[in-house]
Amino acid sequence: MMSELTLLHKLARSLMTGQLRAAADPHRPHWHLAPPVGLLNDPVGFVEADDGYHLFYQWNPLACAHGAKFWGHWSSTDLVHWQHEPVALLPSEAYERNGCYSGSAVLHQGRVHLIYTGNVKYDDGSRTAYQCLARQIDDGTFEKLGPVIDLPDGYTGHVRDPKVWRQGDHWYLVLGAQDAQLKGQVLCYRGDDLQHWQLLGELTGSGHNGLGEFGYMWECPDLFELDGSDVLICCPQGLSPQGDRYQNLFQSGYFVGQMDYASGRLTHGEFTELDLGFEFYAPQTTLTRDGRRLIVGWMGLPDDNEASQPTRDYGWQHQMTCPRELRLVAGRLYQQPARELTALRGPGTRWQGPAEAAPLLDGRSAELFLQPQGHWQLTLGESAWLAYVNHTLTLCRRNWRTGEWESRHWHGELMDLRLLLDASSIELFINGGEVVMSSRYFPGEAVPLGWTGSAELRLEYWPLSPCMLEWATPMS
Ligand code: FRU
Repeated sequence: MMSELTLLHKLARSLMTGQLRAAADPHRPHWHLAPPVGLLNDPVGFVEADDGYHLFYQWNPLACAHGAKFWGHWSSTDLVHWQHEPVALLPSEAYERNGCYSGSAVLHQGRVHLIYTGNVKYDDGSRTAYQCLARQIDDGTFEKLGPVIDLPDGYTGHVRDPKVWRQGDHWYLVLGAQDAQLKGQVLCYRGDDLQHWQLLGELTGSGHNGLGEFGYMWECPDLFELDGSDVLICCPQGLSPQGDRYQNLFQSGYFVGQMDYASGRLTHGEFTELDLGFEFYAPQTTLTRDGRRLIVGWMGLPDDNEASQPTRDYGWQHQMTCPRELRLVAGRLYQQPARELTALRGPGTRWQGPAEAAPLLDGRSAELFLQPQGHWQLTLGESAWLAYVNHTLTLCRRNWRTGEWESRHWHGELMDLRLLLDASSIELFINGGEVVMSSRYFPGEAVPLGWTGSAELRLEYWPLSPCMLEWATPMS
């Protein structure tokens, strides 16, 4: 285990030697959040506080590899332009020596509090987990208050990712877990304060609510009320592909139901994937002060492709999705880019006509809104294309590890499509956000948008400007 000072020395060196190289990567996003160096995974601790939004992230600043994670920290007053804050958590204590893993943030007594998993691995390959608390102090850094929940009986060491919220007179917390029979579960706790927690039991999981076998581990649970129902987001691991469903190594999806706060149980219907693209995992939501439920996801997955991502040559890896607003419509979660993102738009272009006559637009950092009638295809440089033919929308990209083309599909009546493009990522919002597809791709430096097909297109286009405040500030 390394001391906090040693970790800080290494972190500083990694940033000093690596940041310019990472910034020079043509695949680096212009307006999505990405780590300054090293590897980013889950968004964590997403919260709106008195001074604006805070978003933390699972971060290995020392290498493009998973490992003992830190909590990086960004803040924003408008949800669009972000700045770096002091690193929030470093894995320096015995109870978190293999990583300050995912968790959440709440405001308590006027201060941001973080609840996260202290991950501890042993030489024999086993592990344990502590759920830990930290509190922001006046200088903006975090003071660790240590473990507040030990490993419960009947579960393996895979118990993590606490999400905390306030309901009535109590705090509640859900945890992803694996039981002793190696089945994925979600645990529910109640607390009078953030330090003392009572286990109520299994909220849901494999074998509950008619699910049967449903994966060997559930990560990153998040429970919230939305438009009159209770929604559980979670990431079951170990589901097998079924037709067009469950195509990625791990899934991220939701159940809609009703929560019984007395027993800590959720009664719910079936599991629906949140995203039909190639990369979307471990999302987290927060409630804004104006009552909106926002979600941000990791546009990545811990799969075989990860180790071959070309950005590793520039010393950084992965990015977040854009922040999205959630609504529940007829039992289905709709996602739309947060309305604040329109602030990134430059001068717009409107055009209407046959797809093959559409103007050549630049797809490096842009938003498109389409209302097509008929069949069309759109190429995004040489590494990805999108098409709508015979009621099927296909997103196809060149796999950067194998060089093969691979695709994801959605079947239905396409009314409209919003595309958010940023250097090496694409987010598609189909029919007002009824279905979303998020993916990385690695084009050449130019991304000309090329149209073919007989469809009548109505399109709107905006270039999008960068989001990091540090880059926007002129040097004096
Ligand atoms: C999800 C996850 C979490 C864990 C974190 C570690 O991607 O595996 O379950 O807390 O990443 O970085």
